Amino acid sequence: MFDIHSHILPNIDDGAENIQEALDLLKLLKEDGVTKVLATPHFYPQDTNLEEYLKLSKKIFQAVKKVTENKELPEIFLGCELLYYDSIGMSEAVSNLCLNNSKYLLLELTDNCINNKLYENILSLKTEIGITPIIAHIERYYRAKEYKKFLKFISENNIPVQINATSFFMPMFKRPLKRLLNCDIFIVLGSDTHSVDARPPKISEALKFIEKKYGLEIKEKIIRNSNLLCSKITDSE
Ligand SMILES: [Fe+2]
Repeated sequence: MFDIHSHILPNIDDGAENIQEALDLLKLLKEDGVTKVLATPHFYPQDTNLEEYLKLSKKIFQAVKKVTENKELPEIFLGCELLYYDSIGMSEAVSNLCLNNSKYLLLELTDNCINNKLYENILSLKTEIGITPIIAHIERYYRAKEYKKFLKFISENNIPVQINATSFFMPMFKRPLKRLLNCDIFIVLGSDTHSVDARPPKISEALKFIEKKYGLEIKEKIIRNSNLLCSKITDSE
């Protein structure tokens, strides 16, 4: 299994506190059946300098990679979780923030940004810059005014989306998840793990839950989607 969304890198965002916690999270991911994981530290364009962020994330990634060597832990790749901003569709710089230097970008939204401008930006990223955004934890935006229209747009334009494994165990997401799993949308799971205690990965638990509640076929489709994206992202080096 591939985990496309995690905050395992320490000292760069609100994820792992130190190298030991990074190792502990990787151990939990391994127990969860994950063999490859993308480290996706938050990048907030309004508050952070891109060059400094890239330098820091690379440095921490290499340090974590080094300590994971010969430890039989999941293989790690460097990515980013980018917070949406209004001019994103015109920005060539976003290619620096793609997942493992692939043509895929993990994009975090807010309820308020779901409008026509977002659709224009997503299409521009795809057609003008050649980058496909993957919408991070799409279930979280269910309160957005245009959510229904947004799902239609996602479905019609084949935009991949990611769901947090832990959301399956939160009552507030029960209905939004049911709706998503019944739509014709390319869905992958991600742990979005931040910490061992408060936000551990729950990928295998979520997969078991999906099979029980939505059936084997949907679970297998999600695993297939995950494997497909994994090969597109991790074979791009
Ligand atoms: Fe995240």
